[in-house]
Amino acid sequence: MSQQDNKDGTKKLTGTALFYSLIAKAKELDAIVLGRGDPDFDTPANIVEAANRAMQKDNLKPSPVEGLLDLRKAISERVKRINDIDVDPETDVVITNGGQEAIMLMVLASIGSIGDEMIVPEPNYSTYNDALEFAGGNKVGIPTLLENDFAVDPELVEQAVSDRSAALLLVSPNNPTASVIPAATMQKLVNIAERNDLIVLADDIYDQFIYDGGVHCSPQSLEAGKDRTLTLNAFSKAYAMTGWRLGWITGPSALMAKVKTIKASVSGPANVVAQHAGIEALTGPSDALEDMKARYVRRRQVVLDAFDSMGIKYGMPQGGQFIFGDVSHLGIDSVELAARILEEEQVLIYPGGAFAPDSKYYVRVTFLQPEAKLKEGLERMGKALSRMS
Ligand SMILES: Cc1ncc(COP(=O)(O)O)c(C=O)c1O
Repeated sequence: MSQQDNKDGTKKLTGTALFYSLIAKAKELDAIVLGRGDPDFDTPANIVEAANRAMQKDNLKPSPVEGLLDLRKAISERVKRINDIDVDPETDVVITNGGQEAIMLMVLASIGSIGDEMIVPEPNYSTYNDALEFAGGNKVGIPTLLENDFAVDPELVEQAVSDRSAALLLVSPNNPTASVIPAATMQKLVNIAERNDLIVLADDIYDQFIYDGGVHCSPQSLEAGKDRTLTLNAFSKAYAMTGWRLGWITGPSALMAKVKTIKASVSGPANVVAQHAGIEALTGPSDALEDMKARYVRRRQVVLDAFDSMGIKYGMPQGGQFIFGDVSHLGIDSVELAARILEEEQVLIYPGGAFAPDSKYYVRVTFLQPEAKLKEGLERMGKALSRMS
């Protein structure tokens, strides 16, 4: 799937498959991981305790396929409070096995027939490309550029629309570029979707991580978007719950009925213990999240300073937990560059080429390590790069 042939006919890993092979190698070398996107924080104790309490209860009953009503209610309140999205917890929310499953469900629900097109601002989170391929859809990529801080250009989206267009992907903050779609642009994008009857796939997983006073805007909160948007979110990033595999989709009831039918055959309901933990995450204290956000602000600056000193250009990261930098001055394909940094200095970063074909001279560095370790990793990365220049 996410593989291409090398000149000698062997398979070259790309996308998610490439990430997994790099992660395995990093583990073998006990490397400093500045590649993958899991928070380095432990899941807050109150959330773990809620899961423990749920397990002690002898009435731990199976969940309906769309998830426990109490969790769906907590999600409806959360998306109203944070995203200004109005949903009915009875019909418009489905709990998923993390954001990853939500991606597949949203793509399957929006690609009606083989050859349907999804417009995708690139570079983008590669799972969308894999899911689209599995669903038999075609990607119509539109570029976003470092010079414009990787902003999504509505004119390019408009030009990409064809009579096969079914969906438009909007990830804000975006992974890997860390760009945030401002409200005025979001309005234009949603208007294009409405005019052309497209389903909007919105990924809000980084909505808590916006920097420099920026504001997050959910397409589902806009009048033109509310009846055509499926919105993904998850507990992985904001609650340090990657391993719990818990996320959700919200959307208009007709589309959500489709999501629910697909979920029933893909995996059934999400794990009930994790769902109880999710209720606590959304309704309990939020100090851990606030602390995490403050640390990310400082760590982002550490990476920006290090990129400046290494001569790596970047678009200003407005959100997320990573920085996407241009290493074209070294003239080395980023897949090879990442492999060399890993071998020589035991530091894992992700090659840009895994996110989009045009990003082969970019790298993504995450700041999901304590500051001292982050600094050490960046120093070692700098040493490796100076040997290459
Ligand atoms: C944009 C985006 N969407 C979805 C996901 C999947 O999240 P989860 O870990 O909950 O499966 C990720 C993970 O990094 C992501 O970056």
